Amino acid sequence: MANVIVVGSQWGDEGKGKVVDLYAREADVIVRFQGGNNAGHTLVVNGKKTILHLVPSGILHPGKTCIMGNGLVINPRVLLEEIDTLNAEEAISADTDLFISERAHVIMPYHMRYDLAREKLKGNKKIGTTGRGIGPAYEDKMARTGIRMCDLMNETMLKERIASNLDEKNFYLTQYCGEKPLDAQEIFDEYCGYIERLRPHITDTSVIVSEKIGEGKSVLFEGAQGAHLDIDYGTYPFVTASNTIAGAATTGAALGPTSINAVIGICKAYTTRVGQGPFVTELTDDMGNRIRDIGQEYGATTGRPRRCGWLDTVVVRQAIRLSGITGLAVTKLDVLTGIDPLRMCVGYRTDTGVSPDYVPADLDMLERCEPVYEEFDGWTEDISRAAKREDLPPQAERYLQRLEELTGVPLCLVSVGPGRDETIVFHNPFK
Ligand code: GDP
Ligand code: IMO
Ligand code: MG
Repeated sequence: MANVIVVGSQWGDEGKGKVVDLYAREADVIVRFQGGNNAGHTLVVNGKKTILHLVPSGILHPGKTCIMGNGLVINPRVLLEEIDTLNAEEAISADTDLFISERAHVIMPYHMRYDLAREKLKGNKKIGTTGRGIGPAYEDKMARTGIRMCDLMNETMLKERIASNLDEKNFYLTQYCGEKPLDAQEIFDEYCGYIERLRPHITDTSVIVSEKIGEGKSVLFEGAQGAHLDIDYGTYPFVTASNTIAGAATTGAALGPTSINAVIGICKAYTTRVGQGPFVTELTDDMGNRIRDIGQEYGATTGRPRRCGWLDTVVVRQAIRLSGITGLAVTKLDVLTGIDPLRMCVGYRTDTGVSPDYVPADLDMLERCEPVYEEFDGWTEDISRAAKREDLPPQAERYLQRLEELTGVPLCLVSVGPGRDETIVFHNPFK
């Protein structure tokens, strides 16, 4: 029995979906604890690709309990579409195995309109959000004007809340953003339509998590985004609107920190980022394009090309510190096959003579940071069928060993392809 958190250690899209799907075999319960449908988690099972935005990545394993915790912001339309697709295509029962926290906040049409309108107004200063209304939904949660899943079931309150929120939102949309207003009755009718189907799933999920842990079951907590998109510790303001580090599992799924046994950080063998914001090891040349092509680095949510660069161990070390990561899962090592030499950023250098060993909060200072690289010989052998560590070419082993040395954290697995079997397991955090 063990309770394990999986989090991204970079800027998201590290391959959390693949690793959670893999670990879900070992767990009884799989819980998403933050974010919303800004996430796009890709699972490849028997050659078939499934992209999940909201439903936990354990859903493809029949009989597991999947939970969407109170820390999420949920668009009911997107969730129902996802459930319908899973039921139709996967012949699994997303309808019976899925529980949604009554305290999770709901993404409303005005949140999406706000998100898009604000990005438009910002012009070239935009954040590059996914446009899914994530930020505005979390803003309303903190402003205490949000609508929770349980509030959807109280029609009188829902009607009042939508009307009073729209007074303010429509003023902002029309007067400040020059957009069309939204209609309260239309929103009310639309959301009343969703609730009938969602009602059987909605419950106090904190009770389920605590009961399962009490029964000695294993719980897997699935993070979304990555440490450097964290609202407090990411490259603010180019971040998402939730805490993405491991501590968020305790508030977003409602369990005490004492219940956690291991934290696995997912680390892509290179770095990618979607949206705006600083990226010290970014490659804007042919090498960046080559990594994007081979790694198929296009957003699973928005389809945007991902910015690509060398592995940055300053970024990964910071994620390890912030999340208390006990094991690293390295993904997409196969994508580096054929690149020679390889580079890994081991530190930063600035023109001021200061060499921060962490990612500075001050973006001006971060922009002045130059990467200090070490070079590695590449390999040309196909590694996608490597079953054990010894099967890897010595150059790949050297690259991984240096990552372990620089981070001080052992590797628990290396992923060499998108499929479940394309994985070399070193250590199982559930054992
Ligand atoms: P997530 O958001 O962290 O779950 O990651 P995404 O699903 O957005 O992006 C990761 C992409 O890499 C997906 O298309 C995965 O199928 C794919 N992937 C995961 N692990 C590997 C790997 O080891 N090798 C290759 N080539 N692709 C991988
Ligand atoms: P997964 O879980 C990569 C990025 C957006 C933007 C910033 C803010 O698949 O790793 P938001 O819509 O959240 O307000 O956008 O955060 N972003 C992600 N980047 N992977 C994700 O999720 C992301 N979720 C949000 O591109 O830069
Ligand atoms: Mg993703």
